Amino acid sequence: MSFVEVRNIFQSYGSRPILERVNLDVAKGDFISIVGASGCGKSTFLRLLLAQEVPTRGTIRIDGNDPAVEPGRERGVVFQRYSVFPHMSVRENIVAGESFHRCWGRFYGAGKKQALDRADETLNRIGLAHVADAYPATLSGGMQQRLAIGQALVARPRILLLDEPFGALDPGTRLAMHDFLMELRAQTRMTVFMVTHDLEEGFKLGDRVLVFDKTRWDADYPDNYGATITYDFDARNGGIPFQDIMEEHNVLLSA
Ligand SMILES: Nc1ncnc2c1ncn2[C@@H]1O[C@H](COP(=O)(O)OP(=O)(O)OP(=O)(O)O)[C@@H](O)[C@H]1O
Ligand SMILES: [Mg+2]
Repeated sequence: MSFVEVRNIFQSYGSRPILERVNLDVAKGDFISIVGASGCGKSTFLRLLLAQEVPTRGTIRIDGNDPAVEPGRERGVVFQRYSVFPHMSVRENIVAGESFHRCWGRFYGAGKKQALDRADETLNRIGLAHVADAYPATLSGGMQQRLAIGQALVARPRILLLDEPFGALDPGTRLAMHDFLMELRAQTRMTVFMVTHDLEEGFKLGDRVLVFDKTRWDADYPDNYGATITYDFDARNGGIPFQDIMEEHNVLLSA
């Protein structure tokens, strides 16, 4: 049994199919990159893994169970647009992340002190201790995104879902975030699913790169069919450059 098992998932909105026949097995600790044309259902797939949506057909199992509706400690999520709370300081954002994920409500008294200490530990780890009392608006994009990742990580999720987490960042900050994510991953051995539009990023960070695309296409009725996983590349692949792999398989990611 694999850690994450996806069996024959179909997902439609109304009569419109988005995903069809999606099957996947993921081992614990794997880093899965997901690429595909805009609108092909990548975010939808992450929402299914999060159990924010129930698939029209098919099953998803995480460690042998249905994905819990409350992600709790199991899954953390970071979206492209920052999920941090603008009216809270950096430290308060981390505390809120923990209380939110664990559904504890607010912390009081000794519990609050411990939560603040834990938040400071997290801030050290993500390199934001020096701005603990600042508000998110005063931070750079990379710092805000580190905060969002920190917020997701305080619940120590076993699975981290990243939906184009670095898309809004400048190239230098993006590279720094890659290092940061790889360090966290080495420390926690989390299983990661990351959607990206950047193939180079997908191959660099991932163990596997999944391509979502339609295998059936009717020019008169372009909405008639859903996308599926058309390629499942080993990102290491003996060191062959990703451009060569994509070219060999003639993979086009039209926007
Ligand atoms: N709740 C919903 N109700 C109806 N249609 C939806 C819903 N969510 C998504 N869709 C549609 O499903 C399709 C896939 O959307 P999704 O956001 O998963 O694509 P995506 O691959 O993440 O695209 P992008 O790369 O632009 O982020 C889109 O056409 C979208 O309009
Ligand atoms: Mg999306």
